[in-house]
Amino acid sequence: MYNHHILYLTILILCLFNFIASATPNCPVEADPTTILSCVAIDAVGLVQATKGNIRGFCTMAERFMECLKTKTRGCFGEDFVRGSLSELIELSQKCCVNKEEKVNEECPFITKPNCFSLTDMAKTSMGTEILIKDLKIGDQVLAIDYNDQIVSTEIISFLHYENNSQTFFYTFTTETGHHISLTSDHLIFIGNGTYIQARYVNPKLHNLYVIGNNGHLQSSSIRSIDVQLKQGYATPITQYGTLIVNNVSSSCYSSIYHHNLGHMAMAPLRLVHHAKQIFGIVNKNEIPKNGIHWYPKALNNFLHMLGPLANIFTTTMGQI
Ligand SMILES: *[C@@H]1O[C@H](CO)[C@@H](O)[C@H](O)[C@H]1NC(C)=O
Ligand SMILES: *[C@@H]1O[C@H](CO)[C@@H](O)[C@H](O)[C@H]1NC(C)=O
Ligand SMILES: *[C@@H]1O[C@H](CO)[C@@H](O)[C@H](O)[C@H]1NC(C)=O
Repeated sequence: MYNHHILYLTILILCLFNFIASATPNCPVEADPTTILSCVAIDAVGLVQATKGNIRGFCTMAERFMECLKTKTRGCFGEDFVRGSLSELIELSQKCCVNKEEKVNEECPFITKPNCFSLTDMAKTSMGTEILIKDLKIGDQVLAIDYNDQIVSTEIISFLHYENNSQTFFYTFTTETGHHISLTSDHLIFIGNGTYIQARYVNPKLHNLYVIGNNGHLQSSSIRSIDVQLKQGYATPITQYGTLIVNNVSSSCYSSIYHHNLGHMAMAPLRLVHHAKQIFGIVNKNEIPKNGIHWYPKALNNFLHMLGPLANIFTTTMGQI
């Protein structure tokens, strides 16, 4: 039961982070933030069943949970976003929530582990110089893109994952402009108009990447080739905007998740902690990233996987990490 309490808290925090800050006068969450809690509380039984492998009970629960959340967040600023995630949830639970005899649909998505940038690719500092991903540290000022797809200077606030000793497969994209970027298969990349998709779904016939052109502005470029390469070392630095310019190409910082915005919302607590550290002047700029996955995304992933198939709606990790 201890774990479930933490889970409720996590969901609650994620919800409140998004809604409290942006609530409008008609938003019931603003009047009483505990309204969200009632959604989470109604289905404790279903949740416990789910962790014991009762997928059916769980699927009913997921549906009710989402319905409740939808009702309670009516009139809130984040409503459209919640709705967007809900239609996705319904579609995916159709694939993942199946009868006991049936096998889970092939399209019910899963993939093994969190994935990242190559350590040998370059970020760009706010001074315009290049810095290896390997050498980035918390507190470094780097270029990224903001919520309006404009280039901004921002700060590295954390590393979600860092490994300098392991090898992994990367998709290396080469654009017509001659830029190249390597990302693991689940990593989200920017394809314009506020949209990010996982590297493995990029289709050169349909998608363009966005690069910093000679005039210093973002420009779209078609993709010349995609190669799969085995490389040593990977890292997931995250910035205030959840994006990063790597080898002059715009990318998300997030992977193993379907929606950039959802990843960004889920990492809000890390931004808050970093902000608090800034206020108290305790950001350690000399801290070298250690190998391993940050405890927070790891805990979030593992709590999600306690829910069984619901986890697959948000993340492409196959289970506990
Ligand atoms: C990985 O990083 C550690 C600590 O920073 C360092 O001691 C080690 O030599 C690095 N290994 C590789 C293969 O670069
Ligand atoms: C960008 O996305 C918005 C909302 O998703 C859409 O309405 C608009 O048509 C898109 N613009 C382009 C140029 O694709
Ligand atoms: C990024 O663009 C700048 C300016 O065009 C160029 O000097 C630099 O080599 C590029 N960096 C990479 C890693 O492609």
